[in-house]
Amino acid sequence: MICLGIETSCDETSLALVEDGRLLAQTLATQADLHAIFAGVVPELASREHYRHIGPLFDQLLASAALPAKNIDCIAVGRGPGLLGSLLVGAAFAKALALALGIPVIGVNHLHAHLLGAGLSQSLVYPALGLVVSGGHTHLYRIDGPDRFIQLGRSLDDAAGEVFDKVGNEMGLSYPAGKSVDEKGATGNADAFLLPRPYLQNNNLDFSFSGLKTAALCAIDQAKNNNVWDSQSEKDLCASLNAAIAETLRAKTARALSMQEGIKAIWLAGGVAANSCLRMVIQELAMEKNIKFIAPESRYCTDNGGMIAYAGWLLRSLGYRHGLNFEIIPRGRRVPDDMTTDN
Ligand code: KG4
Ligand code: ZN
Repeated sequence: MICLGIETSCDETSLALVEDGRLLAQTLATQADLHAIFAGVVPELASREHYRHIGPLFDQLLASAALPAKNIDCIAVGRGPGLLGSLLVGAAFAKALALALGIPVIGVNHLHAHLLGAGLSQSLVYPALGLVVSGGHTHLYRIDGPDRFIQLGRSLDDAAGEVFDKVGNEMGLSYPAGKSVDEKGATGNADAFLLPRPYLQNNNLDFSFSGLKTAALCAIDQAKNNNVWDSQSEKDLCASLNAAIAETLRAKTARALSMQEGIKAIWLAGGVAANSCLRMVIQELAMEKNIKFIAPESRYCTDNGGMIAYAGWLLRSLGYRHGLNFEIIPRGRRVPDDMTTDN
């Protein structure tokens, strides 16, 4: 079975083809340079760019896989959470194509797809704890199957990626800054700046990163005002931030493990899952607990069509589909569980 995946939730337009769980081809147009001018994604510009790119990317995808459109068996599209106008472009394209080809369409939860996408390079083990850390979301799940996600916790304010991007921006790093903060931190001292491990003094599995963002921004301002801000302190601040975010995420993941029965793996996903410090810390936790660590390759952590196509292929293999009337879901609304089956 060949599934076309379409991703347009934020600032990457990406399409991919997955055949029987294997990636056949992927195309991607990033808008990072455009949004870097504004140090963050401008929603209206993002929608226009998706609209400009999606048709040519589809043609390129078919050409690179040497596959006619009629060979596609089903279409999966990221339905949210994400930017409303951006999601509309992908969903409208997916629905029109499904109608034209007479094949089923599935609206895939973008966050679930980040996690399931790891299946492109390794086998997925259930039951699992899934931690998605991206520019817009920090979510913790229990996962019992491709269609069985239970949300255990989420960020109450900023996502971890937002902290990397805004703190990086203050240091003059271009958007999205997470990768640069990660790299600069590799040669810094993580104990140089005392940053908080926020929102741990409670019994829940939610996160709150806005205070950490403010603390890091204040630390930079203070160092600048005291004329002690130099290239070494930049590296030290990056190392301290990497550690603060990784250790906070580890603490809540460890708490979730102690609260959930029978967990056999931790799955880490989302753009921030490419962070070397976070990967190491969560991998260590999995080793300590003697369970598997599962994460996409770093280059497949950020938004991509492959993860949508793979999640769609998994769900379609279980017989799921949507009607053409499925809604797209902006950030802040829970994605409904409204797929139907063929029978
Ligand atoms: O999942 P994603 O591509 O888009 C959303 O759905 O938000 O995640 C993008 C986020 C950005 O905030 C970016 O700075 C961050 O992932 N990111 C990283 C790294 N690579 C990307 N953050 C920390 N370390 C990295 N190596
Ligand atoms: Zn994402």
